[in-house]
Amino acid sequence: MRPQQTLTVLGIETSCDETAAAVVRRAPDGAVEVLSSIVASQIAAHAPFGGVVPEIAARAHVEIIDSVIAEAMKAADAGFADLSGVAATAGPGLVGGVMVGLSAGKAIALARGLPLVAVNHLEGHAVSARLGAQIAYPFLLLLVSGGHCQLLEVAGVGRCRRLGTTIDDAAGEAFDKIAKAMGLPYPGGPALERLAEGGDGSRFVLPRSLLGRDGCDFSFSGLKTAAARLAEGVIDPIDRRDLAAAVQSAIARQLSERTARAMTTYVARHGVGDRRLVVAGGVAANGEVRRALTALAEKNGFSFNAPPLAYCTDNAAMIALAGAERLAEGLSDGLDAVARPRWPLDEAAAVDRPTHVAGRKGAKA
Ligand code: KG4
Ligand code: ZN
Repeated sequence: MRPQQTLTVLGIETSCDETAAAVVRRAPDGAVEVLSSIVASQIAAHAPFGGVVPEIAARAHVEIIDSVIAEAMKAADAGFADLSGVAATAGPGLVGGVMVGLSAGKAIALARGLPLVAVNHLEGHAVSARLGAQIAYPFLLLLVSGGHCQLLEVAGVGRCRRLGTTIDDAAGEAFDKIAKAMGLPYPGGPALERLAEGGDGSRFVLPRSLLGRDGCDFSFSGLKTAAARLAEGVIDPIDRRDLAAAVQSAIARQLSERTARAMTTYVARHGVGDRRLVVAGGVAANGEVRRALTALAEKNGFSFNAPPLAYCTDNAAMIALAGAERLAEGLSDGLDAVARPRWPLDEAAAVDRPTHVAGRKGAKA
């Protein structure tokens, strides 16, 4: 694949509870156009269980994957002959679901003689802010989703160095579990943000885990336990609103405090000329998190980018773009690519410094 070509890529995403397909066009100068992005959420199917049920997810993906892909192609006004390649999430995630999307991608690639890119879902999140703005490499990335909470230096496609990760829960997982303890519907993050609106976050004192501690790792389990215990006795609507506000600001504060530390390490390695901060993942949709990071970036002379709201949570446009960026570098995968339940972005760091617990077990970890 020659780098100077405009690439039109079909992306497929099925690693958790969204069945998604998208068509993205990437110009040789890196400009990106999302021609279509279809996301069929399974939230209603999982809501009664308060979380994602792997078996239900896999079956739901099988049922609708074909129609979601057809819808994405139609909305893009494209035929398979217009595509330069197919990109499908190959992990990490619920492996039954990953296999559905990856198999669909392989079938199209084989039938149409197109190159296949087996995309790391986290690499999709890593490039998602580039769907809304051109952002040069390198950048400092805070990846905060339901299964991950990491700080990474991103030097280019597939070139990530992990600076910190959670030693227990991911930030989105903390949002979800605390929301559940407060009796809020799944997924908890957006519900808790709505409840917190106008609340006084200073009324409840919550643990400030790892504050001032060396390194860039995160910890949310203390906060989760304390908030869940408080939630049991909090019934009054104003108290509930203020507790939600306190939880949200505690999470935002920890994210920005640890990111501040990562900025120091990042500047020591890359100098002041490349001060770029990017946040991605479902929790990047949170207004307070965005505000805290915007202020931090401003204070430290970093530019700040977050994906457009629709591309914070799981979607296939980010998978298509990650695929297009790989194709532009001449990278693609064989039809023997396997679905991987676990697949760290910085494999070396994951081997050298494994975390005690990999956050949400099984589902997205
Ligand atoms: O990136 P994502 O869709 O899936 C993963 O790859 O994990 O992230 C989902 C997570 C959930 O934990 C959800 O509660 C959280 O992102 N989330 C939010 C918000 N929107 C989604 N958390 C806080 N505030 C939000 N507005
Ligand atoms: Zn995700």
